[in-house]
Amino acid sequence: MSSASTQFISASEGIAVTDRSQAMHRDIDRIIISQKQLQDRVTALAKEIASDYARSEEGLTLVTVLSGSVIFLADLIRQLPMKMRIDLVTVSSYEGKSTQSVEPKLHSDQPLMVRGRDVLIVDDILDTGKTLRLVRAWVKREKPKSVRTVVLLRKPAKAPSEVVVDYIGFDIEDLFVVGYGLDYNSLYRNLPYVAVLKPELYED
Ligand code: IMP
Ligand code: MG
Repeated sequence: MSSASTQFISASEGIAVTDRSQAMHRDIDRIIISQKQLQDRVTALAKEIASDYARSEEGLTLVTVLSGSVIFLADLIRQLPMKMRIDLVTVSSYEGKSTQSVEPKLHSDQPLMVRGRDVLIVDDILDTGKTLRLVRAWVKREKPKSVRTVVLLRKPAKAPSEVVVDYIGFDIEDLFVVGYGLDYNSLYRNLPYVAVLKPELYED
């Protein structure tokens, strides 16, 4: 298990959108992680995870944090050739771009089926770490056999070092990003890339 190949992406390396014929793409300032980079990295993460859990008899339970992780989850699990269960949890945190927030709360429609199992927590992005700290504590209370975490993105400038993440897609600058599941005011989740919006679109 390693995240040694985690790449740091800075916004200045981003590329401008050239095709602005579709409404949503017009709001983008720069693409910072392309569709191809996402695809290649998710494939690499899936290989690493599949190899680490190759001997897991019962298979995995993926505890997935909604809604930002759905696209990452869908792409990742189709490349994981093991038995798995998927539990979906919701963490209510903050609206818009503000990260000055109330304490997050966790909800799940069903009791988690994690007791005695190998659990992999899946989240879109590690920002302040509040979400993952909460989900991890919740999972641990249910006495799983093991717990690891995978995130597509991490903002190392913000993420506290005590929040353990085992697999990381990309490290990014401390910027608010959208696309590939991540939203701004519930929009832009369906963008096939990760991008920064035009500054005038962010209300502060
Ligand atoms: P944390 O609890 O501060 O680590 O925040 C985690 C959650 O905040 C993520 O799962 C996202 O849903 C949301 N979030 C944090 N940063 C961003 C961002 O740059 N774009 C979109 N959502 C974000
Ligand atoms: Mg989230």
